[in-house]
Amino acid sequence: MRRRIATPSPVALPPLWRVLALAFGLLLAGAFGVARAEESPDGPPKYLGVVTCAGSTCHGAGHPVGDARINQTEFLTWHREDAHAKAYRVLLEDKGKRIAQNLGLGDAASAPECLACHATFVSADVRGKRFQLSDGVGCESCHGPASKWLGQHVTGEASREDNIKAGMYRTEEPVSRAALCLSCHLGNQDKFANHRLMGAGHPRLSFELDTYTLLQPAHYRVDADYRARKQVAPHVQVWAVGQAAAALRTFELFTSEKWQGKSVLPEFAFFDCHACHHVVSEPRWAPRATTGLPPGVPRVNDAHVLMLLYLAKAIAPDLATQLHDGLLALHKASLDSREATLGAARGLSELVKKVQGKILAHTFSVDETRAMLDSIVAGGVAGDYRDYAAAEQAAMAVHALTDSLAEAKALDDARSKTLAQQIKVLYEVLQDQNAYQPARFSGEMQNLASALK
Ligand code: HEC
Ligand code: HEC
Ligand code: HEC
Ligand code: HEC
Repeated sequence: MRRRIATPSPVALPPLWRVLALAFGLLLAGAFGVARAEESPDGPPKYLGVVTCAGSTCHGAGHPVGDARINQTEFLTWHREDAHAKAYRVLLEDKGKRIAQNLGLGDAASAPECLACHATFVSADVRGKRFQLSDGVGCESCHGPASKWLGQHVTGEASREDNIKAGMYRTEEPVSRAALCLSCHLGNQDKFANHRLMGAGHPRLSFELDTYTLLQPAHYRVDADYRARKQVAPHVQVWAVGQAAAALRTFELFTSEKWQGKSVLPEFAFFDCHACHHVVSEPRWAPRATTGLPPGVPRVNDAHVLMLLYLAKAIAPDLATQLHDGLLALHKASLDSREATLGAARGLSELVKKVQGKILAHTFSVDETRAMLDSIVAGGVAGDYRDYAAAEQAAMAVHALTDSLAEAKALDDARSKTLAQQIKVLYEVLQDQNAYQPARFSGEMQNLASALK
């Protein structure tokens, strides 16, 4: 996995002409003017383009502005450090071109199949005059179309709620944020990275809301003023909400005719990649209690459900028993028939909704957070994360829950240090997905269990 938590790799700077064009555009039309010119009260909100946000007195300052509530350098952070700023550019590079060619899509940078996730890909009628697909995943991909809120937002008088009413997206709230990020990092009814895309050379996708929020170079600072304006969910809540959302979205796509298809073979992207893709000269199969499957069978990727199972073990034992049975039923059905498998997935999805209901109505205490951490680590000791995708989720869960305990000041310095060191080791074991050794991961989970005692 490509975890770059401590040192986000700098994104190559764009050609000089592009920066100059941006700056020039800003001189010509201040954000306020653009908003007024493009506003049509009755029409749908429009996407105005990154240039509209990047004015030097708005979000395009070169240095944080001393007494301002926000950094005002959001544009530079995004532009220089954030992978989203180069999401379109990779479509022009060899690796992007090759994937599209392999799929017979022609030019990647004009293929809707790629632009859907690599740009703010909205229909032509809602693109403002300065909108450019080449901005990649820009401000409005996440913050929503600006035409109806830009004016009131520039004056600084509008409240968060006023802006949200005018189409700004509720990025700080975990349920909304999960839906937003998952639309591209997992997929939705309109877009999905299926196994053909993988076969053509696309990287495997994985996502955990809390960790990926940390991984995105922060263009905002969570200080006292921020907390006064916005609700800040603790890491544990962000993690739990994200797991439930990802599990439900996976089942939704898994059971949809559009993405599952009707072919004699199921859609491989819903299975654990490394169940099929690993070296055959080193057999490594061992039983896993939560599948009940014999050797030689690909496993449905159940990483998010496993996390919810361990979450439920700590806070809702009844639901945990049901989830465990549901998981076994799903894996068993996969040996049976397509209909049985889809039926079991729908059943499990209903159960996950119950867990989600519990999570949304819950405030996790320090004791519960600690219990979930212990429970997830116990799963590792029991060998439940033999599949790479599950091990990845377990490592990120340990990270998120430890951060949450630290945030609540429930860990002393020495303990924090030991745990941080051990999380680093977990990430190291996962560094190369092709060389993943389940037994080693399980051993490191055992070490973590000792460190937590
Ligand atoms: C469902 C959304 C989705 C679709 C559709 C999609 N991508 Fe991606 N793509 C992503 C995400 C998300 C990443 C980043 C994955 C990560 O690092 O976790 C990515 C990463 C990539 C990368 C690697 C980027 C890098 O910096 O190394 C390339 C190249 C790429 N995509 C090309 C394409 C091409 C070409 C198409 C169309 C054939 C396409 N993608 C379609 C979501 C998508
Ligand atoms: C991939 C999604 C994403 C993109 C792209 C993105 N942001 Fe954000 N932005 C977030 C998230 C998540 C937060 C934190 C939650 C929040 O405060 O709403 C945030 C927060 C902010 C804040 C709030 C700061 C505060 O103190 O309230 C500003 C301002 C902002 N972004 C501006 C921008 C600008 C300008 C761009 C484009 C240059 C941009 N963002 C691009 C996701 C994104
Ligand atoms: C419109 C689609 C889209 C949305 C929405 C989106 N992303 Fe992304 N994200 C991408 C693509 C595409 C890439 C890969 C870009 C590249 O490397 O060229 C990416 C890359 C990333 C990366 C870098 C991954 C790596 O391996 O280095 C992080 C972290 C990330 N996204 C977090 C988030 C978070 C958090 C959210 C929600 C707040 C979010 N993204 C919303 C499309 C999206
Ligand atoms: C059920 C087994 C199975 C699963 C699960 C599976 N694949 Fe595959 N994969 C295959 C087969 C079969 C091929 C075709 C091999 C060939 O053409 O030689 C393939 C081809 C590929 C290729 C192209 C390899 C090449 O050099 O041609 C990539 C990359 C790939 N898969 C990635 C993935 C990823 C990522 C996942 C998980 C999201 C995944 N696969 C899940 C069976 C699987």
